[in-house]
Amino acid sequence: MTQSGVRSPGRADIGARTLRRDPWWRTPLAYGLTLAVVGLYLLYAVFVNRDYYWEPYISPMYSPCVTGNCVAGSGWGWFPSISPVTPALVIIVFPAGLRATCYYYRKAYYRSFFLSPPACAVPEPRAHYRGESRFPMVVQNIHRYFFYITLVFNCILTYDAVIAFRDHQGSWGHMGLGTLVLLVNAVLLWLYNLSCHSCRHVVGGRLRHFSKHPVRYWMWSQATRLNARHAQIAWASLVFVSLTDLYVRLVASGTIHDLRFF
Ligand code: FES
Repeated sequence: MTQSGVRSPGRADIGARTLRRDPWWRTPLAYGLTLAVVGLYLLYAVFVNRDYYWEPYISPMYSPCVTGNCVAGSGWGWFPSISPVTPALVIIVFPAGLRATCYYYRKAYYRSFFLSPPACAVPEPRAHYRGESRFPMVVQNIHRYFFYITLVFNCILTYDAVIAFRDHQGSWGHMGLGTLVLLVNAVLLWLYNLSCHSCRHVVGGRLRHFSKHPVRYWMWSQATRLNARHAQIAWASLVFVSLTDLYVRLVASGTIHDLRFF
């Protein structure tokens, strides 16, 4: 393999590891720690398999609950339960796949965990750059399929937020803090999908003339505006989905009472 790193022939011969003087390591460190903490919590939520439902609230980690071993009232029971597989484990592959292949998160975790590179103008430790053109990294190209599938998830989580306006007896007109939490969570997840690079391509790509497609041009303009905030939305939605699970979990386990507005 020909050498392709910063020490390869033809590159400037700079002895120092980097010429940057600012604390460039802070951002990858902060991102790595945040991803590790949130990731560990979500892993716990996926495997614990209890306290994810308190009518009318369901944790987004367990919705849609599609296996036969869902808590009564929470699930659709489409698939037989396969012990010890939890209902969350069956569905987590899709939202997790979207995040793992997300263009923004790739930048974040490549820098934090693989040091590839750790920051701009800071060379990576490896001598060879292989990019994402070979297995296993070439798998990142399936991102757009996760984007399509998670749109269905967003519809289901929006439905969960709407039925959270019902009380335990199924009557409409209830609203608690849990309703608000599910609602904000659904909005953030929609914003995350709609700001996705794949979304921008789906609505505005493969066109020769925007002038002949004013509706798609408008959609592309909106997606582009959101796309500029994709990083912030990615963090907000990731943290909030964990907080939503935590809130439902605390209410369902009886640790706290749901604050009821009306
Ligand atoms: S680029 Fe981040 S979700 Fe698609």
